[in-house]
Amino acid sequence: MNDIGRRDFLVRTGLALGTAVLAGAYSRAIADQPPSRYRFTNWEHFRAQFPLSPQLIHLAGFFLASHPTPVREAIERHRAGLDADPIGYWYQHEEKQEAKVLQAAADYLGVEPIDIALTDSTTMGLGLLYGGLALRTGQEILTTTHDHYSTETALRLRAERTGVSLRQIPLYRSIKTVSRDELVDSLQKSITPATRIVAVTWVHSSTGLKLPIHEMALAIRSINRSRDEQNQIIFCVDGVHALGVEDFRLSELGCDFLVAGTHKWMFGPRGTGLVWGNPQAWPVAQPIIPTFNTQAFDQWLKNGSTHGLPQPTYMTPGGFHSFEHRWALDEAFNLHQAIGKAQVTQRIYELNQQLKQGLAAMPHVTLHTPVSQDLSAGIVCFEVAGMTPRQIVEKLRQRKIVGSVTPYATQYARLAPSLLNSPREIENTLREIRNFHSS
Ligand SMILES: Cc1ncc(COP(=O)(O)O)c(C=O)c1O
Repeated sequence: MNDIGRRDFLVRTGLALGTAVLAGAYSRAIADQPPSRYRFTNWEHFRAQFPLSPQLIHLAGFFLASHPTPVREAIERHRAGLDADPIGYWYQHEEKQEAKVLQAAADYLGVEPIDIALTDSTTMGLGLLYGGLALRTGQEILTTTHDHYSTETALRLRAERTGVSLRQIPLYRSIKTVSRDELVDSLQKSITPATRIVAVTWVHSSTGLKLPIHEMALAIRSINRSRDEQNQIIFCVDGVHALGVEDFRLSELGCDFLVAGTHKWMFGPRGTGLVWGNPQAWPVAQPIIPTFNTQAFDQWLKNGSTHGLPQPTYMTPGGFHSFEHRWALDEAFNLHQAIGKAQVTQRIYELNQQLKQGLAAMPHVTLHTPVSQDLSAGIVCFEVAGMTPRQIVEKLRQRKIVGSVTPYATQYARLAPSLLNSPREIENTLREIRNFHSS
């Protein structure tokens, strides 16, 4: 409230007095609010937070979140405020609410809020990051043949626009024999003196394979030791299928950028996401879309330019957003914190193990996801003899089991046991698939 541009605007719009009074009341209300009203008691109670159809077994929860109660209530609160007085509510809440969201994300990730940019999706984060990387002539981007459409297309568009060299490599020969060593070795061997950016996906939504990101980061760090600052390799990760699944702290993971939507495994509001970068790496990311951060806006009002704020501030794209969704994101992080990261991971692993081991034992099923949790997270891909992936998913749907087909050139049926599921649901799913060959 103490910056000139904002004050000018409030005076001009006649909001100043009312806003000051309301802002005071608001900050007291925020200060009094507990981090989350949700307290974890058991998985049935957790599942009851979601208005998901109880008739269905939801094994595609990773696709797009259903809003759990605390998130839904926060959205409704902000929606009502915005609907009643869009400009007044925005001025009263924008700075504080965004700070709250950044703090909740930072606490969850084990990093500083200042190093996080807020986006609307994984795709938006990837497009902004890869589209705007400051690269010098001769520097290349190294990526893989296993990435999602969003990474692949963001990089291709960037290469087509600027002529930057882009190289795609496979990280393993066969999913049946893949190992963590092979994945790290393949990456290490493919890095050349020209490689400035490495762009990978932590958990592949094509196969469910999980990359050993920490070991890869260590390998990159050892190559970086003999490089000057301008040529350090920047390690970028699409982490959307690890966020809300894996128990990690970004401060220890070792990558330079992590891009993720928060509207999948995190159960954040639909249309939310983030980019985290380490402070040394952030200057390499150049903004493309003007931020609406109030300090940046005030700088522009005063002197026509925007400089000197932390880079993630500029990397949070402006334009007005669906703020009722963005401002409810802290509730999703609080929900996960209330369960505890270790317990979240354990539950997802247990359900995935149950599914994979059950599928692996069926002669008519080919499992494409490694059984080991060292090489997989929460996604299970498979085929059934004599059926196309689409037929498998359709047949499961008829049995009220919701799966999906991998949206890649090679297609598999895909099920993703998550916090929304129970061991009994996995057993029922296995029973249906077991019966496929006889029906
Ligand atoms: C690996 C991966 N990256 C990115 C995306 C896109 O995520 P978003 O919808 O958050 O843009 C998906 C799937 O939707 C994905 O599977």
